[in-house]
Order: sequence, then C-alpha cells, then structure tokens
Amino acid sequence: MIKVVASANGIVGIGAALDVLKRGGSAISAVEAGIKLVEDNPLDHTVGYAGLPNLLGEVELDASIMDGRTRAAGAVGAFKDYPYAISVARKVMEELPHCFLVGEGARRFAREMGFEAKELLTDVAEEKWKRMMDEHAPELSRGRDAYMDRIRDFVRLTRDPERPNETVNFIALDSRGSLCCGVSTSGWAWKYPGRVGDSAVIGAGNYADDRWGACACTGRGELAIRAATARSVVLYLSQGMSLPQAGERALEDLYQLEDAYFGPVSLIVMNPRGEHVAMSIADDMEYVYQDGEMMEPKKLGRHHVPRPGDRS
Ligand code: GLY
Repeated sequence: MIKVVASANGIVGIGAALDVLKRGGSAISAVEAGIKLVEDNPLDHTVGYAGLPNLLGEVELDASIMDGRTRAAGAVGAFKDYPYAISVARKVMEELPHCFLVGEGARRFAREMGFEAKELLTDVAEEKWKRMMDEHAPELSRGRDAYMDRIRDFVRLTRDPERPNETVNFIALDSRGSLCCGVSTSGWAWKYPGRVGDSAVIGAGNYADDRWGACACTGRGELAIRAATARSVVLYLSQGMSLPQAGERALEDLYQLEDAYFGPVSLIVMNPRGEHVAMSIADDMEYVYQDGEMMEPKKLGRHHVPRPGDRS
C-alpha cells in the first residue's frame, strides 16, 4: 500500500508526492516533493515563498522532516532567504551529525549545500504586513515591551490571519512500508523575530516511527511544543491505543495547558498499515489524502475534538 496524507493546503503537492511513491521512490522523497510545491505556491501565505513575515517584515521559515525507518530527523528554524526549507531540513538530516540548525547557521549551511537564495517577501505579503503595522500597531517594531502591550490589546494580531492554510503537513507511506513525516511553515504572521514554532521541533509538530505511526501538527505551535504532541500521539499508539484514541488523547492534553492565546491545534496521523485519522480542536478544518488506487485526492473534514466541557 502506498499513501499520502496532508493538510488541506497540501492539495497542490499531493499528486507529485504520490507520483514519487508510484515510481518506487521513498517516503522521504515523496514528502519533500509534495511540500516543495506548497512552499512554491504564491497564493499560500503561511508556507515558504510568499509567507507572511515577522514583526520586522522578514520572512522566517521553520521546517522538519523525520524518517520513520531510522528515526533520523532534520530541521531548520528561523530560517531566512531560501525558499525550500524542507529540502534544507532533509540535507541537515542526511549531511550533518546534527538534527536542527537555526538562523544564520542554517542559512550558511543552505549556501554551502548549493541552494539558491530568493527574496521570500512578495508584494502581496509585504502589503498585508504594512497594512497591519499602519492600522494596528506602528510601534510594534520598537521591542518586547511594546509588543507585549499590543498583544494584550490585539491578541488577534498574534494569530495567523489565514488559519485555514496554516502550516503544511505531509505523511507518506512507501512501498517498503516506511513512513516519513514533513512539516513546513512561515509560522505565525507578525511573530516576534527569532520565534521558532512546533513545525521545526521534532516531537512537537512532527514525529515518525515505522513501528507505530507518524503524526504532524498545525496550529498554535507553542501548545504542541509544551505537550510534545506529535511524539505523544505515537507513544499513545505504541501503548495500544487506536488511531482516534491516540489523537483525541493528545488534543485533550492540550486543553490542560493554561494559555492566554489558546488557538486551535490540528493533526494528521497514519500508521504503517496505511490507516489514518485527521482531527482538530477547531470544527472547520479539512485535510487531503490519496493512495495508489485513487485517481485524485480526496478532501475531507477533520474529526472535531471539542473541549471536554463543550461535549454533549
Ligand atoms: N504550527 C505552526 C506554528 O506554530 O508556527
């Protein structure tokens, strides 16, 4: 069985990912091929090129990739000037004795590996940033105190203004039965410079283990970091929970966390048999999947996991 499961914005790349698997390629190559097309998509302002910038108007990318067969992983955080963060994360996994590079070191490594630099801030994204700065908080660029003052006034400024797309998640299962999980994002729009979210943090937004399954997250990354959500899901699977039980339990863990900016977290999970689930704290999130028998991807709503107090 070959299969790809992705967040809804992965629709532009899922066909390319499946093609890699159909040709006998690895789950790692499939995930990279799929995510690169999302990173390239100028209409997606939450991932790669055209992503919305940080407070200073700089696009900073986070990405990670994990090989379920070996549990090798690579990641980049607060990474500027290069569009294919997922490919650089893969190179970190394959070419260095490290798992995670950030900031200037990640940029230096990308240059050394021969990646081509590109201006990531598009006119459209810059215009959105300028409008936010003009209309809401021109003083935000002055530093932490002003930033926190304004956050109290404008909590929504810290929220991704285009939540339906958010981060991109891909999980692929190849013909050898190996899983790979990849995540890429430009993170929260208008974030504090240098902020790294769960997408780059193995165990938080990304985890893959061929014995049990793989999980990728989108949404409020700080929560997924604090609860190690992706790793938790895989651990719950290893303890005998079903896919829905493991996903629900991990989202319920998030409801235990105090957080003034509590925002939705969503996840996709696939096990080595190709069974999958997708769920969310929000009630309006979708995802896509396609296996080797399907002519086109299927887009479906995610299972909604409401707060315990909201359940009937
Ligand atoms: N989940 C993406 C982020 O928090 O940056």
